[in-house]
Amino acid sequence: MKVTIDGQAIEVEPGTTILQAARMIGGESVPPAMCYYSKLKGSGGKCRCCLVEVSKGSEADPRPMPKLMASCVTGCMDGMEVNSKSSPRVEEARKSVTEFLLINHPLDCPVCDQAGECDLQNLSFKHGKSKTRFIEEKRTFEPENIGPNIQLHMNRCILCYRCVMVADQLTDNRVHGVMDRGDHSNISTCISKAIDNEFSGNMIDVCPVGALTDKTFRFKSRVWFNKPYNAHRNCTKCCGKTTVWMFGNEIQRVTGRKDEFHEVEEFICNECRFDHKDPKDWVIEGPRKFEKDSVINQNNYTRDLDTVVIDTEKNILKGRDQDRKKISMPSVPLKPEEQDAFKHGNI
Ligand code: SF4
Ligand code: FES
Repeated sequence: MKVTIDGQAIEVEPGTTILQAARMIGGESVPPAMCYYSKLKGSGGKCRCCLVEVSKGSEADPRPMPKLMASCVTGCMDGMEVNSKSSPRVEEARKSVTEFLLINHPLDCPVCDQAGECDLQNLSFKHGKSKTRFIEEKRTFEPENIGPNIQLHMNRCILCYRCVMVADQLTDNRVHGVMDRGDHSNISTCISKAIDNEFSGNMIDVCPVGALTDKTFRFKSRVWFNKPYNAHRNCTKCCGKTTVWMFGNEIQRVTGRKDEFHEVEEFICNECRFDHKDPKDWVIEGPRKFEKDSVINQNNYTRDLDTVVIDTEKNILKGRDQDRKKISMPSVPLKPEEQDAFKHGNI
């Protein structure tokens, strides 16, 4: 079947969705996706970020589709013509969807561990407005402890259902899911059970925002200060192929290997993710390349560099005294007469 997206034609198999066809073409025509995840069956159709305009239905029925379509759940037809990046209607719709998603999402990027690799942050950067029209109080939830490894921050959840699908499709005895209805809907565990299934850590990787983060990495560093390396180990539970995120010679975090669409290539087990933070546990293959534009890509280091050994503790403390002085400003006088002397350089 032939489908044309933003003027670029491609041959696809029957059953291919518009989003999958766009990903084959690549570049700016690929619609953003907050809920679709190619490795999770049944995902997509929740967030409406991936809307596109179908200007020609098919060769057999060339009428345009009157409404914008969610590309992740709309199948290609032979002769179909689609506008993604090239449509002002689509641009406007993506702006509106972004505004909707941000209605209840807290603006806590400065303290959120996901910042720098957050799909919603990237979406807002591309399609967001700098002002909000929402004056009501944002929806908030009581914090809930869901176990030793995964931090749930429900206020940040956009209800994409990806983590629920991970629980359904990768773990035995699912204990968490979406509770309640409408704007009370929330991700929670059944009667506050801890999530301890062997593959549950993958919920962290699939969560597009900072609603599910790694407790073992929490507040340790900003992701752009870490260097990602491909690494592997002999694992009996999973493929053992991961990305280790290093700060100096420490491994601060272990994740699955994510591709240009921020999807993991293979899911990994909790043992690899949470229990092996010693570089000796891993065969380090080399730096991980990121194709997609993102904050972490700015810290590109794939060219040859000299070996740098960072003594974390010592360097974290370096400069603290000067920082403290700058923050508390003890040399800036409070009394007017002192201020005068200060101006004339007598203090
Ligand atoms: S917690 Fe994350 S993965 Fe789960 S539904 Fe919310 S946003 Fe999606
Ligand atoms: S990615 Fe298509 S609706 Fe969410």
